[in-house]
Amino acid sequence: MDKKNTTLGEFIIENQSSFQYSSGELSKLINAIRLAAKVVNHEVNKAGLIDILGAAGDTNIQGEDQQKLDVLANDRFIQTLKNREIVCGIASEEEDHFISVNSHDEKHQNKYVVLIDPLDGSSNIDVNVSVGTIFSIYRRVTPIGSPVTLEDFLQPGINQVAAGYIIYGTSTMLVYTTGDGVNGFTLNPAIGTFYLSHPRMEFPETGKIYSVNEGNYIHFPQGVKDYIKYCQREEDDRPYTSRYIGSLVSDFHRNMIKGGIYIYPKSSTASEGKLRLLYECNPMAFLAEQARGKASDGFRRIMEIQPTELHQRIPFFCGSRKMVEKAEEFMAAQK
Ligand code: AHG
Ligand code: MN
Ligand code: MN
Repeated sequence: MDKKNTTLGEFIIENQSSFQYSSGELSKLINAIRLAAKVVNHEVNKAGLIDILGAAGDTNIQGEDQQKLDVLANDRFIQTLKNREIVCGIASEEEDHFISVNSHDEKHQNKYVVLIDPLDGSSNIDVNVSVGTIFSIYRRVTPIGSPVTLEDFLQPGINQVAAGYIIYGTSTMLVYTTGDGVNGFTLNPAIGTFYLSHPRMEFPETGKIYSVNEGNYIHFPQGVKDYIKYCQREEDDRPYTSRYIGSLVSDFHRNMIKGGIYIYPKSSTASEGKLRLLYECNPMAFLAEQARGKASDGFRRIMEIQPTELHQRIPFFCGSRKMVEKAEEFMAAQK
């Protein structure tokens, strides 16, 4: 069959047998995410027509203003996952605490927990610029049939079973990995079906794009300042191009296709940076590594960091392998 005609539904079924001891639970879970993605896509597309733009009037646990679409996307994803009873726990950037889904009930034998950033790039909602959703899936570490605990969520990224994102862009795509490469599916909105449009996505080994919020330059560590100056110097294939959308999902997606590096460093005003290890950095790191790219906090491999808190933040350097390694050299020189 022509790969481009493969639907996400068919792809999930075809690949189910490749997981050892697969019971179909992970396939069902990815199917539920596929469904939630279509629901949120429908809402995002209507933004501007109905009253879902702007602030919701609350702040989340990290003190950030919640947008109406943050709340809506969060509700849709959680409801879709809960209704299908296919996970034992959910943690979300927009929820103070993790949610236990029937995991105290011995009848429920679900083994997976899901962590989500339901709406990434919320500052772009009101201005019609691409936003996304990020998800990360782990096997619980505590016994099946008992209530989930914090331990089930505080796992290093290397334990991820699957991770991915949905980008609500000029077209809507679902991009994910189960540890065997990265595949991208584009939604045909007329019939509501995702098709395999980007099989085996890979970061070019190096690239010419750097993505960082340079408005914060003055507050950056010296290593990051030096790397930015290196990107701007007229030498070899430089200066590079600067591209920063302000939605991690969109910046990552572009860099994976074209070659580039994304940096959200710590700064004198944000001691651990801004991005969340569990909802943003780990899933993107898993995708990056599966796509031959690299992700670090400037010094250490993101996926090996042992999380200590649900909403923990971490500096993030991610993208084409050679570019991340070069940035790490500058960081090491100033350590
Ligand atoms: P979120 O909308 O989920 O809070 O995440 C926004 C993140 C990320 O997507 C983006 O790259 C970054 O914040 C932008 O931050 P700045 O506005 O500080 O550059
Ligand atoms: Mn985000
Ligand atoms: Mn978010």
